[in-house]
Amino acid sequence: MITEKQAIALLEKYAPDEKTFKIVYGHCQKVREIAERVARQIKGVDIELVKMGALLHDIGRFVYPPPGRDNGVRHGLAGADILRNEGVDEEVALICERHVGIGLTASDIEVQKLPLPKKDYVPLSPEEKIVAYADNLAIGNVEGTEKMVEQRFSMEIGPEYGERVRKFHEMVHKMMAR
Ligand SMILES: [Fe+2]
Repeated sequence: MITEKQAIALLEKYAPDEKTFKIVYGHCQKVREIAERVARQIKGVDIELVKMGALLHDIGRFVYPPPGRDNGVRHGLAGADILRNEGVDEEVALICERHVGIGLTASDIEVQKLPLPKKDYVPLSPEEKIVAYADNLAIGNVEGTEKMVEQRFSMEIGPEYGERVRKFHEMVHKMMAR
């Protein structure tokens, strides 16, 4: 498994400048904090994988920065490609590839005409789900609420996706209750 030091070195390698590095790294540290807290409440989760996935999940933002829907959609797969090229563990690359929103399905890509090869990018492992969950809660480097996340997606993508986000939150709570 990649170490924290190696993960930070990778972020530094791909960041175009110091200012962009600080913005992305600050967000990733907040995502790691939330994700680790959630991971510790779920049995059998690989905490180290969650932490490294959280640190690296937005490395694709250096290639596809905000704003805009298309860049928002592209940065997950772009980040996973970077991680694979760098020989980072496939489990970490998959966290990155599947973290956008609560995941995108081939149908989402078709219906919304998203700029991605048509397949599912949906978080499947507990570690993938936890990082996607934590990422949505972290607005920059500040933690918001689930309600805010549900309203944001409902406004940005539509009420149907907002409802899927609400169900995703319920599913994470069930994982924590077990
Ligand atoms: Fe992201």
